[in-house]
Amino acid sequence: MSYISIHGGRVLEGKVNVQGAKNSILPILAACLLCHQPCTIHRCPKISDVSACVRILRHLGCVVTWNEHSLTVDPRGLCCTQIPDELMSEMRSSIVFLGALLARCGETALSFPGGCELGPRPIDLHLSALTQLGAVVNEEGGVLQCRADKLSGCEIVLPIPSVGATENIMIAATAAKGTTVIRNAAREPEIVDLACFLNRCGAKINGCGEGTVQIEGTGPLFGCEHTVIPDRIVAATYMAAIAVSGGKGELSPVIPQHVSPVLPFFRQSGCTADFKGNRLLIKAPKRLRSMQHIVTGYFPGFPTDAQPALMAMAAVSDGTGIFIENIFENRYNHVHDLTRMGAKIKAEGRMAVVEGVPTLSGCRVKACDLRGGAALVVAGLAAAGETQVHNVGYIQRGHQDIVADLAKLGADIKTIR
Ligand code: EPZ
Repeated sequence: MSYISIHGGRVLEGKVNVQGAKNSILPILAACLLCHQPCTIHRCPKISDVSACVRILRHLGCVVTWNEHSLTVDPRGLCCTQIPDELMSEMRSSIVFLGALLARCGETALSFPGGCELGPRPIDLHLSALTQLGAVVNEEGGVLQCRADKLSGCEIVLPIPSVGATENIMIAATAAKGTTVIRNAAREPEIVDLACFLNRCGAKINGCGEGTVQIEGTGPLFGCEHTVIPDRIVAATYMAAIAVSGGKGELSPVIPQHVSPVLPFFRQSGCTADFKGNRLLIKAPKRLRSMQHIVTGYFPGFPTDAQPALMAMAAVSDGTGIFIENIFENRYNHVHDLTRMGAKIKAEGRMAVVEGVPTLSGCRVKACDLRGGAALVVAGLAAAGETQVHNVGYIQRGHQDIVADLAKLGADIKTIR
C-alpha cells in the first residue's frame, strides 16, 4: 500500500496552483443529466471522487471524455435510471443523482450514499424536500425507489441549511412545473457555482448565496461550458502548510470572498495574507501565535472542512487554541494521530482544546477521512524526522496532487509505492 513520506522542517516558499473545487464539480456533473446537449466543465480536478462520479455517469449511459482538465459529459445516451450500491457507496455526493434522475427521467432506484465517516450523515432533508416537490419515495432493502410522475414547484423550508439538500432541490426544481422557493438554503460558494452552471444551461435560478433561492421550472436544459470555482478548502490547506513551515507563498486562483471566513485566523496567528487580484500572498512568522476560538458553521461561518488543517497549525502555535465543531459529530478523527505526533490536544464532544508545542515528531499515522488526512500531511511538515501518512486513498478523494504541490513549494515529501 502506498503512503506519503514527509521529512519535516523545510521552509516552504514559492507559487502553487489551486485546483477546481471538489464540492462544486460533483453536483455539477450530476446536473449534466438535465441537459439535452453535451456540457464541458473546465478546471475539473482529477480526484478519485470525480472518477467515481464519472463511473456513475457512464453506467447511466453518458459519454464522458477528458481533455487535460476539461471534462465533457454527453448525456444524450442516458438509458438507465438505477445506480447500484457499489457505485453509490463510493461517495456522499452521489445522493445528488437522486434529484437529477427524478428531474430527467421521473424515476430512479439507488441505495444510500457513502462518503467520509464524519458521524451520522442522514438524507432525511433531501427525501422530505423531494417529496414536497411531488416525488414518492419508498425504501426497500436499503434501496430507495423514487418516482415522480410530475414535479410541482412549492415552498420548501429547510430546518438547517444543508448543502446537499439545497443542491438536490435546485436540480430537481428546474424540471418542476412552476416556481420553487427554498428558505434557509445553504449559501456556500459551491451552491452559487451550481446555480451559475444551471443558469448557463437555461435554468432560471435567483437568490443563490443569500439564503432564499427561487427556481422557476424550465424543463430540459441546453449544454454549456463552465469553469468551476477554485477549491477554497485546498487553498486553506496549502495556506496552513506554508504557515506551519514558517514560509511564504503565492496561491492562485483564490476568490477572496470564498476564503474570508478563514483569513482572520491566519492573520491572528501572525501571518500576513494579502490579495493581488485572485493571487493570495501569504507570509508566516517563525513561530505561529495562537488563534481565537474556531467555531465551525454554515457559510459565511468557518468551514468545517478547514478545521483539521487549522488544528495542525494550532498544534505548533505558541499558546492555546479552542475548536468547536458544529457541523459534523465526528470530525476530530485526526486528533488521535496528531497526538501521537506529540500534539497536546484534548477533544471531547464538540470541543477540542489544543495547547501548542514548539515541534511535533514524525511517526506512522493513518488518514481517517479526507480533510483529517490532509491535516496530518500539514503536521508532518512541522514535525522532526519522518512522518508516514497511510490510507492516502482518503486524501486522493479531494486532493489532485498534494505531494507534487507541496514538493514544488520545497517540502521534502514523496509518495512511496
Ligand atoms: C457538504 O456535505 C460537503 N460535501 C462536505 O464536504 C461539507 O463538509 C459539508 O457540505 C458542510 O459544508 C459535498 O459537497 C460533497 P450538509 P453535505 O448536508 O452536503 C445534517 C469534504 O470533506 N443533515 O450541509 O453532506 C448533516 O448530518 C466534505 O469535502 C441532516 O441532518 O453536508 C450535517 O450535520 C465532507 N439531514 C449537517 O446537516 C440531511 O438530510 C450539514 O450537512 C442532510 C444533512
